[in-house]
Amino acid sequence: MSQRVSCESCGRVFGARSPQAQCPCGGLLSVTQRPSQRGATLRRRFAARQGQDPLVEGSGVWRYRELLLSGRGPIITHPEGNTPLYRRPALSRYAGIDDLQFKHEGENPTGSFKDRGMTVAVTQAVRAGASAVACASTGNTSASMAAYAAHAGLPALVFVPAGKVAAGKLAQALAYNARTLLVRGDFDACLRLVREASEALGIALLNSINPWRIEGQKTILWELLQQRGWDAPDWIVVPGGNLGNTSAFGKALREARELGLLRRVPRIASIQAAGASPFFKSYRTGFKRRFTMPAETVATAIRIGDPASYERGVRAIRETRGVVAAVSDRAILEAKAAIDAAGIGCEPASAASLAGLRQLASRGIVKPGHSVVAVLTGHVLKDSQAVMDWHLAGGRGRNKPIEIDAKVSAVERLLKR
Ligand code: F0G
Repeated sequence: MSQRVSCESCGRVFGARSPQAQCPCGGLLSVTQRPSQRGATLRRRFAARQGQDPLVEGSGVWRYRELLLSGRGPIITHPEGNTPLYRRPALSRYAGIDDLQFKHEGENPTGSFKDRGMTVAVTQAVRAGASAVACASTGNTSASMAAYAAHAGLPALVFVPAGKVAAGKLAQALAYNARTLLVRGDFDACLRLVREASEALGIALLNSINPWRIEGQKTILWELLQQRGWDAPDWIVVPGGNLGNTSAFGKALREARELGLLRRVPRIASIQAAGASPFFKSYRTGFKRRFTMPAETVATAIRIGDPASYERGVRAIRETRGVVAAVSDRAILEAKAAIDAAGIGCEPASAASLAGLRQLASRGIVKPGHSVVAVLTGHVLKDSQAVMDWHLAGGRGRNKPIEIDAKVSAVERLLKR
């Protein structure tokens, strides 16, 4: 098995141990997988490794290692992955889709899907001899990178937009001891800054422009396919911000098809918040024009106006006959309340997938008889303020807490109401 890294723009080739996260020409790097096994053999191997213990065998990422990063060396794993697929009748009704499952990536060790990309990218950085790691983030990437860097014993440098990161995520970066910089600017400014700074200072860049992040995030898709006995759903719905996941899903499906792991390719639906929807705007022109915009949304994780993996995202949508949709903040918060009330819970950005699915179903694009897997990207506790703001506002459907005197009569009075 082997991997080759090359630039998607100029074609320059790098070794798998290259410390480079982006091409000097400014293009994005990507990994070409050339495993020595194919379909049935790979399926048997993945099955034999599932749920076994020693750390690496127990990882829902490294289970697919011949399609990620080959070669000898340490593996920096928590472990991660092995996330559940949920079904909830109430949410099927909400979406208008009977055969609906949720893959909850918020149940990874640091509470988001980022851990899948980070275990591979940090492992590769360690093997490439990195002395420090850095990222720009709306919060989850920094929480995950900080944890994996701590695990690897590497100093971590985090750039986040000041005042625009949910408290749970910022707390994680601090707790895991990352040097945390609150940048006066939005995520897009943070990303520009870290791209330049990491280049100038020789620090490994671990945003999803780093091709090894994409490799790790492919396993969300493979794991859900394996959980379904390699029977693909009709649709896979995912929130879209910087478009790392949309790109990773496209690549995972391309490789699975080429390797004979999968016969039918599901369609990808990438869902943006209306206030941060440059990809959706481009989609509406048939991707003839690329848009950027100043972004604003309650879903701070996807408050991004200039997605770095735009080109890869376009390819993923085109190759899967996918669609892009945009949903209002109101629709996101209502979908989140439904997911939360079903006992699952997620952060606002994750609920874009259910809000988007509901919209696509109502427009007749996703049909009631279709099978769908919606990806939930982050944990409910990441943004507890969003939960409080929603419920404390009171009114219909809100679960406002009630302060009472410490007396049975007070409880009794309440129960009678
Ligand atoms: N959902 C959550 C919870 C996220 O944290 C992100 C991205 C996305 C969805 C969008 O994924 O960028 O691959 O399209 N968060 C990044 C961060 C930007 O810095 O944590 P994407």
